[in-house]
Amino acid sequence: MDDGTSADETVRDRGVEQARRRDDKDQLREFAARFETPDDLYLDGNSLGPISDSAEQRLDEAVEQWREFGIKGWSSAEPPWFWYGERLGEQLAPLLGASPEECVATGTTTTNIHTLIGTFLDKLDDRTGILVNELDFPTDHYAIRAQLRQRGLDPDENLHLVESRDGRTIETEDVVAAMDEHEVGIVFMPSVLYRSGQLFDIETITREAHERDIYAGFDLAHSVGVVSHQLATHDVDFAVWCSYKYLNGGPGAVGGLYVNERHFGTTPALAGWWGHEKETQFDMDLEFTPAESAGAWQISAVPLFSSAPLLGALELHHEAGIDAIREKSVDLTSYLISLVDEELSAYGCEVGTPRDPDRRGGHVAIEHPDAYRISQALRDRGAVVDFRQPDVIRVCPSPLYVGFEEVWEFSQLTADIIEDDIYQSYDADPSGVT
Ligand SMILES: Cc1ncc(COP(=O)(O)O)c(C=O)c1O
Repeated sequence: MDDGTSADETVRDRGVEQARRRDDKDQLREFAARFETPDDLYLDGNSLGPISDSAEQRLDEAVEQWREFGIKGWSSAEPPWFWYGERLGEQLAPLLGASPEECVATGTTTTNIHTLIGTFLDKLDDRTGILVNELDFPTDHYAIRAQLRQRGLDPDENLHLVESRDGRTIETEDVVAAMDEHEVGIVFMPSVLYRSGQLFDIETITREAHERDIYAGFDLAHSVGVVSHQLATHDVDFAVWCSYKYLNGGPGAVGGLYVNERHFGTTPALAGWWGHEKETQFDMDLEFTPAESAGAWQISAVPLFSSAPLLGALELHHEAGIDAIREKSVDLTSYLISLVDEELSAYGCEVGTPRDPDRRGGHVAIEHPDAYRISQALRDRGAVVDFRQPDVIRVCPSPLYVGFEEVWEFSQLTADIIEDDIYQSYDADPSGVT
């Protein structure tokens, strides 16, 4: 070109300007300053969210409370540690569309699946089948199989997998059809598939399940904090989630669970003293009286230092508002998908996530035969994404701290890495945490 810039540079300049204009209009833009990310392009918040000032502050406070109060912290700290799981439940409830009593922060996704699947299995009379799908995160199946085995039920006969038509997604109508094909007592589905990012239709699955006297439970690990849920309105029976992804509660942060209030009073499969009715917990009666709330499914004393950061992180979530978070998330993933189509499809990249925003969670799956090597090259250049077998790069523009310009930069970096064969110098064999 006359001024010495190439056509490519001009296109790139225009692209970055457009992205910046969108950032200028972003009402959540200021929140990024509240987070610290170790890399320039942190696009892995669906695996582990970064630290925020408020999460760190609550953690520091908890340490100080331990120093100041010792054992008295159970009642004198604010919030009192004795009620910490319930207090977090109150803060989580608006994100889940549930009453405060129906939510509690406790355990982990996997332990919560154990106790809730076990609890609902114990409620079943004869139809002991559990319906899951073949694209689930493996821990869900491990836990369900273990619960079936412990009741003398053969997992191979009682665990039914809905098959995927395309290897990426699960059709709602196939879930519903499978309810009729087997003797199902519980349907347990993810809200969002961990690999492709497909968002499930929780309302329809629950309604169809209930019409057949089937309990409906969900693993919300990939949606809590980025998708607005209506669990009570949709009459979901139970749900579980973790807090280290979009909720930014920290590595291994305390998980959470929801139990519909009509199931209060049921004895949890993995009962423990922390789920006892609070008022009489310290009577130390050998007979278990469940709390009249989701708190009954707590097992052990609250892990304060993996709970306190969540309290701080939730403050930011409430300041931003879940509807605004979801809106920005949809805008960011739509933008990313358009960039894959326009900039990266020429290099063999394909979108593996549903294009309909109503069927999409907070991340985008980019498929490429060399996904692993590209993901490693991206990480080494400051763009943290992750790889999932066999050919998926998961990219998560988490709305509280990622902007449109970063999504644009990611697309350009990916194009460069493929065009210049940079990824070819990486080992093709995935190992360790990917
Ligand atoms: C859908 C889903 N369920 C469960 C888990 C693991 O749960 P946890 O380690 O919290 O038990 C994950 C982890 O990424 C997940 O993505």
